[in-house]
Amino acid sequence: MSESVLTIVCPGKFASERYALALEAGLKGLPCRVTTRLDKPMRNLRILFAIPLDDSGMNRDFYDLLGFLRTHPDALEGCVAGVMVDGPGDLYTKSAARELVLAANLAGCTFVGRPLAEAIGSLQNFTVQAKNAGCSLTDAFHLAVKNLAERILSFSSPALKNPKLLVLHASSRRTSNTLALWDKVKRHLGGTYTIAEICLRNGTMEDCAGCPYTTCLHYGEKGECFYGGVMVQEVYPAIRKANAIVLLCPNYNDALSANLSAAINRLTALYRTTSFQEKALYAIVVSGYSGGDIVAQQLVSGLCMNKGFYLPPRFCMLETANDAGTAMRLPGIEGRLDQFAAGMLEQLHNE
Ligand SMILES: Cc1cc2nc3c(=O)[nH]c(=O)nc-3n(C[C@H](O)[C@H](O)[C@H](O)COP(=O)(O)O)c2cc1C
Repeated sequence: MSESVLTIVCPGKFASERYALALEAGLKGLPCRVTTRLDKPMRNLRILFAIPLDDSGMNRDFYDLLGFLRTHPDALEGCVAGVMVDGPGDLYTKSAARELVLAANLAGCTFVGRPLAEAIGSLQNFTVQAKNAGCSLTDAFHLAVKNLAERILSFSSPALKNPKLLVLHASSRRTSNTLALWDKVKRHLGGTYTIAEICLRNGTMEDCAGCPYTTCLHYGEKGECFYGGVMVQEVYPAIRKANAIVLLCPNYNDALSANLSAAINRLTALYRTTSFQEKALYAIVVSGYSGGDIVAQQLVSGLCMNKGFYLPPRFCMLETANDAGTAMRLPGIEGRLDQFAAGMLEQLHNE
């Protein structure tokens, strides 16, 4: 059973007045308790991680928190969370947030879609929200904290009879490690899902043209995008129907491959008119050598923080395998595939 009190996790002793005011104004009237550290596993909490950064973009207590989460893979079972980060400069706020989200998610924590209230030094990142709300940058920051806190408290993962999954990949079935892992997960899921798979590898995938906001909105309202093609004809309708998307992600130069990246960029027009907040994001990431966490963090920021998909607990499976066929021969892989599929079954069939 989840509770209706918000636990504010505030690591760090050098919090600024702005940070304290944002928590005070944003959380006014909400039932809250505050803790400065996590040093034992928590169950079924609603959590706002509130992270202040210093002039170097760091916070040693925050790194202790990351260390605890990375070494306690069941530390946050049943918890639902979001993150507030406040830093004095333009840099490091987003990277701190996505490191935390990945670590906490792999420790069992769900993250709501758009789980970040981020304050860079100048607060210029709130320019659009402030203009839309007719308020100051500071008030827009406070409103973002308030809105996030309310969404953390009210979140419930949808309970579904016959969940619809959309799988996006750009791999070759003959050689791909990520596809081989997915095929096994799919077999574990059995017939209880309606699964659509779209391959974005057909050579016609255009990246986002970066149209002006009004042009993008104009196309989005018609269910289209400037370039059309597979994104508009297949991916948009499939995402509208899907309860969850699964991205199959080989690590290409410590990043998502170009086709998948382009697909995420091209979701912008759909996002203008369709909320993704009740849609879950899953992923399988395979790196030849290292760096899967960087790819997973790209998914966290691109699809969860920016586009608003929510992250079910342990949203991604991370494996290291290079040559064709080697992922399926990794020690312990069957057990990890079982666990990943069992997580999907439990999370999406929780009616
Ligand atoms: C263009 C390209 C770039 C790659 N870059 C990296 C990399 O930066 N780090 C890494 O660990 N593996 C890298 N790899 C290896 C792949 O991540 C690895 O072979 C993985 O198993 C591929 O998954 P797939 O078989 O599903 O395509 C790269 C492979 C290719 C083709």
